Amino acid sequence: MKQMSFVMLKPDAVKRRLSGKIINRFEERGLKIVAAKMLIMEDELAQMHYAEHSEKPFFGDLVDYITSGPVLAMVIEGEECISLIRKMVGATNPKESDQGTIRGDFAIDTGRNIIHASDSPESAKREVALFFESSEICGYSLPDEELIYEEP
Ligand code: RTP
Ligand code: MG
Repeated sequence: MKQMSFVMLKPDAVKRRLSGKIINRFEERGLKIVAAKMLIMEDELAQMHYAEHSEKPFFGDLVDYITSGPVLAMVIEGEECISLIRKMVGATNPKESDQGTIRGDFAIDTGRNIIHASDSPESAKREVALFFESSEICGYSLPDEELIYEEP
């Protein structure tokens, strides 16, 4: 089933100039970027995005981290891409992320884990709507979809 996931390169990824490398992984996998924008998140947006963690002890640090510089927000489309992208991203604590995952290859600390990705279809829907108008999501087809999918 085709899905859309919300993916965000956090300020450390942008400032470390890793955006291109990370985007390349999604493109090489065969996934399709259907929306993208850079922004510096306001506290309010950060608190809404991470609302599920509002009672956690790390919430203040998380909001400070995510608002500390520009993020690159994206919507990525593909078959079963929500769980697929989570696997590509790796465990929340990069010290436990498998080698070959984005966090496992580029990060060390949980509080500097460089990328966010939706964890369920419900989160994806909520997060995409939080960052993008429906008019900002580009519908287009890729010329090589039959090379990526058995049944495009
Ligand atoms: P994300 O939402 O950013 O994709 O990360 P995730 O699903 O892998 O992890 P989640 O549990 O949703 O946590 C959100 C972000 O909060 C920071 N965090 N810090 N100090 C801590 O114990 C702690 N735990 C989580 C991380 O930046 C994590 O990505
Ligand atoms: Mg999460």
